[in-house]
Formats: sequence, C-alpha cells, structure tokens
Amino acid sequence: MVSFAADSPREHLSLDTNWKFHLGDDWPSALRLDKAGESGGPAAEKFNDQGWRTLNLPHDWAIELPFDPNADTSHGFKPLGPGYPKNSIGWYRRTFELPKDDQGKRIWLQFDGVFRDSTVWVNGWLVGRHESGYHPFRHDITDIVHFGGKNTVTVKADASKFEGWFYEGAGIYRHVWLDKTAPVAIAQYGVFVSSQFKQNVPDGPARIQVKVTVLNTQMKPAAVTVSCKCIGPKGTASGGGFKQSGEVQAAGNREFDLSQAIRSPELWSPESPALYKLATTVEADGKVVDSKETEFGIRTVAFDQDRGFLLNGKPYVLKGTCNHQDMAGVGAALPDALQYFRVARLKEFGCNSYRTSHNPPTPELLDACDHLGMIVMDESRLLGSDEENLRRWDMQILRDRNHPSVGIWSVANEEFVVQSTPQGGNVARTMQDYVKRLDPLRPVTYAAPEGDSFAGINGIIEVRGWNYHVGPDMDKYHAKQPAQPNVGTEQASTVCTRGIYQNDKQRGYVSAYDDNAPDWATTTERWWSYFADRPWLSGGFVWTGFDYRGEPTPYAWPCINSHFGVLDTCGFAKDNFYYYQAWWTQRAMVHLLPHWTWPGKEGQEIDVRCFSNCDEVEAFLNGQSLGKQAMPRNSHLRWKVKYAPGTLLARGFKAGQVVAEDKVETTGAPSALKLSPDRPAIHADGEDVGVVTVAVVDAQGRFVPMADNLVRFELSGPGKILGVGNGDPSCHEPDTYIDQAPTRSLSLDQWRMKGVPNPNERPEVAEEVKDGDWDLVDARAASGPLNPGQSAVFRTRFTAKAEDLAARSVTIVFGMIDDEGWVYVNGRLAGESHDWSSSPVFDIRKFLHSGENVIAVAVKNNEAQGGLNKGVTVQIAEKPTPPDWKRSVFNGLAQIILQSTSERGELKLTAHADGVAPATLSVPTQPYPAKPTVP
Ligand code: GAL
Repeated sequence: MVSFAADSPREHLSLDTNWKFHLGDDWPSALRLDKAGESGGPAAEKFNDQGWRTLNLPHDWAIELPFDPNADTSHGFKPLGPGYPKNSIGWYRRTFELPKDDQGKRIWLQFDGVFRDSTVWVNGWLVGRHESGYHPFRHDITDIVHFGGKNTVTVKADASKFEGWFYEGAGIYRHVWLDKTAPVAIAQYGVFVSSQFKQNVPDGPARIQVKVTVLNTQMKPAAVTVSCKCIGPKGTASGGGFKQSGEVQAAGNREFDLSQAIRSPELWSPESPALYKLATTVEADGKVVDSKETEFGIRTVAFDQDRGFLLNGKPYVLKGTCNHQDMAGVGAALPDALQYFRVARLKEFGCNSYRTSHNPPTPELLDACDHLGMIVMDESRLLGSDEENLRRWDMQILRDRNHPSVGIWSVANEEFVVQSTPQGGNVARTMQDYVKRLDPLRPVTYAAPEGDSFAGINGIIEVRGWNYHVGPDMDKYHAKQPAQPNVGTEQASTVCTRGIYQNDKQRGYVSAYDDNAPDWATTTERWWSYFADRPWLSGGFVWTGFDYRGEPTPYAWPCINSHFGVLDTCGFAKDNFYYYQAWWTQRAMVHLLPHWTWPGKEGQEIDVRCFSNCDEVEAFLNGQSLGKQAMPRNSHLRWKVKYAPGTLLARGFKAGQVVAEDKVETTGAPSALKLSPDRPAIHADGEDVGVVTVAVVDAQGRFVPMADNLVRFELSGPGKILGVGNGDPSCHEPDTYIDQAPTRSLSLDQWRMKGVPNPNERPEVAEEVKDGDWDLVDARAASGPLNPGQSAVFRTRFTAKAEDLAARSVTIVFGMIDDEGWVYVNGRLAGESHDWSSSPVFDIRKFLHSGENVIAVAVKNNEAQGGLNKGVTVQIAEKPTPPDWKRSVFNGLAQIILQSTSERGELKLTAHADGVAPATLSVPTQPYPAKPTVP
C-alpha cells in the first residue's frame, strides 16, 4: 500500500454526531443584518439549548411527522411545506473544540446537503445562506473560530417551500464535515482524474490525465510542486510517480496539468468494478502541505446513433432504474450502508444503471455505485442558465466527475413549458457546454417527455432522452434524426403492490400482475420488449427501482407512497422483479405468480403467470402437468388454473434439460415469526446498519403470503432501531420513534413594567400586586427601555396546566437580562443573572402551581439601554417514554433497520406478535475503525 496521508496537515473530520435539534420557527429574528457577530436566538453563542433533542446526522424530520390527509399528496401527506409553518423550520446546534495548534490552518465547514434554504452561523457570525436542498456547500470559517476553545455551529433549515413534486425530507439529511487544510492546499473538488484512449476505445495504454487546482490563501506567492502516483486495484503502484512545479500567485489558485500512461489497465465496468487510486501530494516552498487520495476507474463511455450506449468501446445495454433518495424507516436520511444495500438489491434483478432522479445525488451513493458496479445518470435538479443554477451545475460536475460510475449527465427532467422553445434549447445548450468544458468525455442527455419533436432541447442535446412515448414516435424520430443517439431516460411507470393480485381502490392497492400503468406509461413487458428489439435506443431506466413516498398514482389518500417500484420502499421484490431478472440476467430462472393460498376460491380459475428465461416451462398442480409452453422472448407465460390447495410447480427447460424450478404452496395459518439479517455482522462504528427482514411463517416454516400481524420489537446491546417499514403503500404506522420527549416552548409576551428606585427587596415582585396600570413593554425588542442607572420590575403571567407540572422540567429562558436581574415566580426568588450577554435559564417547575402564575423580574440597568430583551420563553420538556417499536407485516413481511454504536458487542433483536411464536436474532457488531470525527 502506498499511503500519503501521514505527513499532510489535511484533516477530513465527520461532524455528524451529537447535534441538538429543535423543530419550530421560534426565533424569527435570529438573523441580524444590522450588526456583525451578534445574531439572536439559537444563533447566539451563549444560547441555551439544553432542552433540545440530541441526535446524530443524517436526520430527516419529515418522516417523524404524522400523516395528514390534508397535506400535499405528491410529497406523501407529511404536514410540512406550504401551509404548515409550524413543522417547516428546524434548528440544529453543535459545539466543537478546536485545538490551539490548529492556529494557522484554514478551517472549512462542509455540508453535503440540507433540505432546504439553510442559514449557517458559527459563534454568532453569519457564515452563509444556501437555498438548494440538494447541492453541497462549504464555508471558510477560519477567521471566526476560537482556536483552543469551544465553537458553536447553528443551522436553520427552512423547508417551507418544495423543490420537487415528490417526498423530499427535511433537515440536515446528508453528512457534515469539518476540514482542516494548510493555507496552501488542494482546492475543493480540486483533483480531476480521467483516463483517455485513442479513439475513445480501450485498446493499448490508458493516458491518465490529472488536473490539480491548488489554492493559495496567503498574501504571498507559493512555489508549489504537485506529485501524483497511481495505485492499482490490487493496492500496488501502477507506473512511476509524476509531478509538476510552478508558482501559485498570492491569494489565487492555479491548475496543474499532469499525465501518465498505464500500460495494461484493468477496466472498470458494472460487472467488474476495478478501482484505482490517485495519490496526490502538494509541496509548497519545500514542505508537504497537502495530500489526498482520489478513487477513479479506467473505462470509456460513449453513445452511438446505431449501436446505442458503448462501455469500453462495446455496445452495453442500459438496464436502468430511476430512483429518489428515500427509503422505508429513514426517509431521505440514508446512512451510507443503506446506499450499498439499495444498489446491491437493484443489481439482483440485473439492473446495471441508476438515474439520480431528479437531483444531484449524495456522494456516498456514487461511492456505492463505483464499488458495486452501476452506471449513473447524474441529473441536475433544474434547467437554468441563470447564475445560481449554473453555479450549482458547475459544482455538481466538479464534485462527481471522478466517479467512474457516472456515465451520463442529465441537464433536467420534463421541463414541459420550455422544452420545445428556442429559449429552452439555448439554456440546455449552455448547460451542455458546461459539461463539455469541465468533463469533455461524458455524454449529456435530457429526460424529454416528448414524442417525435425536434424543437428546443431535443434539437441541441447530444443524446435524445425518452420519457415514455414507447411506440411509433420513437421509430419516426430515429428515421428523421439518424445522427442523434437515443436513450430511454424514463420508462415503465408500471404500478404494482407487492403480494396483491386485485386492484383495490378502497385500500389503495394495485395488482402485482404486470397489467396496470397510467395513461402516459406502459407495462413492464411493453416497454422492455420494444427497447430490447432496438439497439439504437441504448436500453433505458425504469420508473422506478424502489417505491418512494408521495406520488401514490393511481390513488390518493389513504395511499401515501408510490407503486412504481420494482421493489417496494423496503426493497422487497414485487413480481416484476422476476420479469427483469429473467431478461436482464443470464442465470436460468423461473418465477411463478400469484401465491397459492386462496381459501374460499377452491374450483375457481386463477390467472397463473410465469417469468422465466428458459426455452420452455412446464407447470404442475399437485403433480399433474398443466402443459409445457415455449417461452416467448421478453415476455411471460400464462395458465388458467382451477384452484385446489397444494403445490403449484414450474420447471424451466433449456435444451430439453430442467435447469430451474419454482413452486408456490398453500400454507397454513401464521404460526411463528422469522428474523433474517442482510449481513451476519455489522461494524461497530456508530453508523453502520443491519437490515432485518421480519417474516411470518406457518407451522412448517413456510412464508404466509397474506399475513398482517402486528409485530413488536425489542433491542438490547450496543445499538438502536433506526426505523421500521413494511412496503405497504397505505400504511400510516410510524416509521420511526423519537427516543427523547419533545420540548414545548411558549413565548411569554404580555409584560408590564414599572420603574423602581432600586432592584432589591421590592414589594412589586410579590404574587399579589395590581399591575394592570403599568406600562406594556415588548420584551422581544433588541434593546430595552431603561436608561443607564435605571431599574424596573417587569411582570407577566403564565398559566400552567396539570400536564405542565408533570413534565420532566419547566424552564424559563431569557433572551437577555440587561444588565442584572432577579427572577421571581409567585413571589419566590428563582434565580439571578449578572451577565447581560448571557441568555439565562432557570428551572421554575418547583415554584409553579396549577392555574395562573406570576413571573416578576427586577432589572437593574448599569450602562447604555437595558431591560428585558430578545424574548422570554417557557420550555416544557416532556417525560421521555421508551419507544414502543412495532410494525405490522404487510403480506407477510416487514423490515427493521438496526444501527450500531461504536461499542463492540451483540445486538439482540426480539420480535413478538399475538398468537404466534416469537423470534430472536443476534447480530454481532465487530470492531471497525470509525470515521475520524470531531469530538
Ligand atoms: C414522470 C416524472 C416522474 C414521476 C413519474 C410518474 O413524468 O418524471 O418524476 O412523476 O412521471 O409516472
């Protein structure tokens, strides 16, 4: 192994753990535009967040909200966004220490994605505002941090507006990093490595082209040498080192261009995802100042108008799926391990490509695609050549262009209004030109929901994308535009519910037979058989790989998630999974549907279907042959079978030999639960997850296809349950439980004030004082009414209910008592404050009684203007109730997502349901180096 990191000052530290979180817009004036470093509310350094919830990132507060039939359908009926101000603003705070010897380094705060419209403060200083919910951003916070002391980051995320028409989550749902670099260092996304071959076909040596941008934040020039080394998939150096030197001007940057040949490169492909590493070291004025490892792959991609997509110079059919970043149990906040879980599930049915519809992906999804082998269509959120959209597009390309998995860029999806206008074409051209400048070797497409039209975007885009419109339009278009390559950017939109064989509008289920698609869409078989016969179409991307929240087409409430997936929201296979497996993989297989447990249907005809890639299939009911049929290519077989309990069996033949078999059996009543983990052990790194399948089985251990038992879960050992799901598109059970009780916060607003000669031992603080004729004052004002040397008593009332008195704690939080104050509750002293700049908090529960309580504060102002300022709130922290983890199985299955802590041990999961035998499962958590983390 060649390692460069040791002598570099660069540190890349996770800032995901131990955040404080509060939901609600309780500090609308926190952002101050008049003065620097003096923000209010939670943005202020001294703000007291003790009543807030503690959590780790990634976090999505949208899945924690209950379903609401009045909320937005396409976003999955979660009560946030337009019309739900109370649930749409979230606050996060995190403190961290910086060692004194970091002085002299640059300190960067990097967010991979916050949904959305975020404002970030550090130590009370505003450091940035960022609107997009999908793009990364980073801030240089060097000037305002305390070296050798405590620092505070505050983030306000405002999800009041949507960016898409699908479930989008809310909050800091991707990773946060603290990066430390030397003043001369590799710029953000400053390494670009690509491989080139003559004619763009891997034949002979690969030329490794490296561009390194070095940033000099000093006010003097730096003499810089950039050295690189390629490390092959087996961990050994590939070729010698290569370097380049030059001066980087003061307060500027410079791009270094380097290159090296690799003689017999190991090529990357989904089937063989060989990864190289580029080790880059930067020396400035003779000292190593930075080093970085960048993974890359050696491969070529291209489109040909006749042969379709080409990978490594050969036609390669894109067997793709479109996906949102959304999963059962976790919403948009996917731990990295779930990215790998999902990509691996897709690969099981032969999916080799992934469209990040309709937004830039999280980097860990691309890592999973690099490592497991999946070609990515990397899509922007919006079409636009305005400055902001181009800045975002630029950053997306710079960030993602090293990933070998990224094979195609998509400038946008379905921009109905502008797509056929000249302006739409101009804007798409500008975005396409950006790709050609920053990443010339990758093709560009647009997901066009259009038929045979060449106007606007279709006329300028390199690769014509097809959203739907299967049929003659495609052939006509191809005949008229023979020079333009094509790809099926979005196809199918077949609707199915796992394990259901009859449409049921009432409950919101669609049959899993491949029969139903909305009017713009097609069945699975229809689109694929059409594409499979036309190599020039390059294959395409199914809408969608996984079901997702929102878009419950063809239904509405009570249905809360989509039915488009080949897999449900948990990743459980629907029957169409096997259609794709038959025609997208090589292994001989047979799959029969439906299940064979139909009590009451004895003697009635059942529509039996079969997916297989064998030459012929013979079906048997209870040993009796139902006939052998030849399997039509890219299609399915059917038998009409009179139902009799027992065993339905199918045998697949190739060249006359039985090569595959499937059977469905009539099962008995639910008898026991069964727990199966996706992996035998997980990493004890505090973020790895194990995905456990809960199944209901009969007395003979056979899966019961219609079971709907409510299952309760308990977990012991070093971990927690992160979330649960079952794939039921109409289930309103919670996916997650908050393990800490919420804090309610009430603003105390009706204050009256009376000037007094001195603040001590005043009769005005007693409980029974008539204050109706005192002056009304606004305690939320930025500065108070008292002149230097003046004192006053401020009074208000607070009505406590029995449940408030039963709370875990009731505290009173003052925005500011300027300069000194004595706080009385019902005439008894609850605390005093002598620091105007603090935001003092007092526990007042023991002074309260049920009904009306009097809060009185005697304030002495020493200098400047003073009083009671910046708001006063009462915070009521409820008693925690241990989460009662439960979930119904849906058609026999449910899912539990377990997450490790950083302690090694044994996770023990128990599942119980009434009337059936419980199940237990042990998942060891094994030592694993956790990511370097900010303490
Ligand atoms: C498409 C759109 C997708 C999704 C899909 C449902 O037109 O691009 O985001 O809405 O329809 O069929």
